[in-house]
Amino acid sequence: MNVLIFESPEEATKAAFDIVIKRFEEGLKTIGLATGSTPLKLYEKLRDTNTDVSHVTTVNLDEYVGLEPTNPQSYNYYMNEELFKYMNFATTNVPNGVAEDLEKECERYEEILKNHPVDLQILGMGPNGHIGFNEPGTSFDSITHIAELTPSTREANKRFFDKEEEVPTRAITMGISSIMNAKEIMMLAFGEGKAEAVRNMIDAPVTVDCPASVLQNHPNATIILDKAAASKL
Ligand code: GLP
Repeated sequence: MNVLIFESPEEATKAAFDIVIKRFEEGLKTIGLATGSTPLKLYEKLRDTNTDVSHVTTVNLDEYVGLEPTNPQSYNYYMNEELFKYMNFATTNVPNGVAEDLEKECERYEEILKNHPVDLQILGMGPNGHIGFNEPGTSFDSITHIAELTPSTREANKRFFDKEEEVPTRAITMGISSIMNAKEIMMLAFGEGKAEAVRNMIDAPVTVDCPASVLQNHPNATIILDKAAASKL
């Protein structure tokens, strides 16, 4: 693991941005994208560049079950608003959380990943160390599946909803094995609220109790932190 620590989230985001732009210039074909508040500034910088991404396919990590793409809390909506409508990606893929047959949707998504191997996967993490929506205890062999969200994740994500009851209880997520197939992974974590999970990811044994710790097994993973997220290392 290559761990980079910066004074502020802004500086950390700039470093992440430079890597993404470099990979676009080098001819990256498929980029894996994450949602949440952490990559927002990165997307803001990317959409301001006018970079030609007409050769690039995107695949997102996850989507809430039951939210229409037109629902402002859905990850489909987030991606359209924050990035897709500004950039000329060849194809964009986000799981469909309202598919009639969710199992089939997982299979369809896994097929997309097979046809579009991810060159660079951007990741954030939950305060409990989850990646995508792979909560603690998820098998490292998992592929795209339906995940039950833990009470702590629903609590952490309720800030995006009007009421806690509105936070979905399930999500479609790429599995840990699907994520680990990426040739390169770039994990971003900012703020004190992530410090404990960051320590478990980097400075503790690899265990399903902290899904992000699996990144220790990846041959090309860069962890980009601000000082606060790195404060327990
Ligand atoms: C959600 C997403 C994760 C994301 C996490 C962190 O749970 N499923 O992919 O990494 O939130 O969110 P934030 O960046 O807002 O802390």
